Amino acid sequence: MHKLNILLAASEVVPFAKSGGLADVAGALPKALHALGHDVRVVMPRYYIVDREKYGLRKLDGVLGIPMGSMGDRWAAVYEGRLPGSEVPVYFIEHDAMFGRKGLYDDEHGYAYIDNDNRFILFSRAVMELAKMLDFRPDILHANDWHTGTLPLLLNSAYVFDPFFDGTASVMTIHNMQHQGRYYRGAVDVMGISWNHFNHYELEDHGGVNMLKGGIVHADAVTTVSGRYAQEIQTPEFGWGLHDVVRAHAGKLHGIVNGVDYDEWNPAADPLIPAAFDTEDMAGKSVCKRELQRQFGLAERDDVALIGLVGRLAEQKGIGLIAGAVGRLMQMDIQIVLLGTGEKWAEHFFGDLVRHYPGRFACHIGYDNTLAHRIEAGSDFFLMPSLFEPCGLNQIYSLRYGTLPIVRATGGLDDTIENYDPASGRGTGFKCYDATVDALVGTVAWAVDTWYRNPEAIAAMRREAMTQCFSWEASASAYVDVYRRALEARRRDHH
Ligand code: ADP
Ligand code: GLC
Repeated sequence: MHKLNILLAASEVVPFAKSGGLADVAGALPKALHALGHDVRVVMPRYYIVDREKYGLRKLDGVLGIPMGSMGDRWAAVYEGRLPGSEVPVYFIEHDAMFGRKGLYDDEHGYAYIDNDNRFILFSRAVMELAKMLDFRPDILHANDWHTGTLPLLLNSAYVFDPFFDGTASVMTIHNMQHQGRYYRGAVDVMGISWNHFNHYELEDHGGVNMLKGGIVHADAVTTVSGRYAQEIQTPEFGWGLHDVVRAHAGKLHGIVNGVDYDEWNPAADPLIPAAFDTEDMAGKSVCKRELQRQFGLAERDDVALIGLVGRLAEQKGIGLIAGAVGRLMQMDIQIVLLGTGEKWAEHFFGDLVRHYPGRFACHIGYDNTLAHRIEAGSDFFLMPSLFEPCGLNQIYSLRYGTLPIVRATGGLDDTIENYDPASGRGTGFKCYDATVDALVGTVAWAVDTWYRNPEAIAAMRREAMTQCFSWEASASAYVDVYRRALEARRRDHH
């Protein structure tokens, strides 16, 4: 089997810069592809927060010229590093005017930078030019989300007659359909492509450009991060206006569930948690629970069901449902600990609840990886009632820590969690079907009631949950299959 040259572009990559699961995927999938024998390289912007010294980044000789259509040529520096614990090269595009800012996408008040279109057009064009500068001829250009959605289009427009990319196929992965990169039509000129592409079947959307749409249409293969979500985005409810486009291209759409980096998320060897544990010896989990209660000022009780929540405080995550349900949830004998940042109303709402339920409701508004691990380890349940969820990683981490997920049956949550079946005693979590406060309260009550009345069932579920395996190895092989299909499609369509 011949090895592939893969150039994977993403706007965030663990550990250099992260706002959500995209960074986890972009930091882990390349390592798994490398382990399968492929030459994979990663490109991301060099944001101000990417610490060049800490990661030992090395500046490459020369400067990268980036043609920006009507904005003229721009120049960027390129730094090179490695994904930690691997040989996978990561290239950083440094352009101070575009990326020398504190945030990835938003300013300190939470507003999106007004020039995000230009920032990510520059980044996408830089990816193309970088390949040439490195003389790295990709078999596969792998774009992720709208930020790099322009890549498949660039390959088919500005670079279509460039012999360097002869034989290069593109793959577009959708991590989240809600964010599409919709901008004013003038972006076409900045991309430096022909206005012929500005039409309903390619880039145009309600009079402006839609970068994700351009990516979906032009990619040789499209993937999304779970099988269920691949179905869902073909419907109006989950397609955010693009369901018809996705349906028209369904023949090249594949669902591949995300893996988990078990080097990072493993309770048997996690340096961030107070005590180790595994299926053979669960004593450490009680220590973790006690420590979590202590750290967060909760009553230190073994005999109370502790529910953890970690994530972006965004509507997507069902924070409206949780806010509506919390008064009724707190009538049960439970404790809740929440970690997250995001919508201001939610930060204030949940922050204030601590005063109402002292010793029972705790929260930390902020981003803190150590706390995320401690909550996964110390909680009995993990609550994730998302309105939609392309894949979701926290529920998969929870499984390994024996922390039973309470989820809404949507997208990747539905695919990765098996609902408890009282008749057989099997299952790895508890599922809520309707996106309503009543359904959420009912499902939490079901889980908590099972915890109090049927500890044997909970222990059996924990064992089943902890032995689930969502390794990157399997998912990376599925990506390689898609890469090969993309190459075949390219050969068929372009020759
Ligand atoms: P999404 O990408 O939609 O935010 P995922 O579940 O795929 O959802 O990934 C979220 C990732 O971000 C997980 O690795 C999670 O642990 C992490 N995360 C989210 N919010 C926080 C936070 N406040 N502190 C620490 N980690 C967080
Ligand atoms: C997105 C989705 C999340 C998914 C992640 C990584 O941010 O919201 O469900 O797990 O991307 O693919």
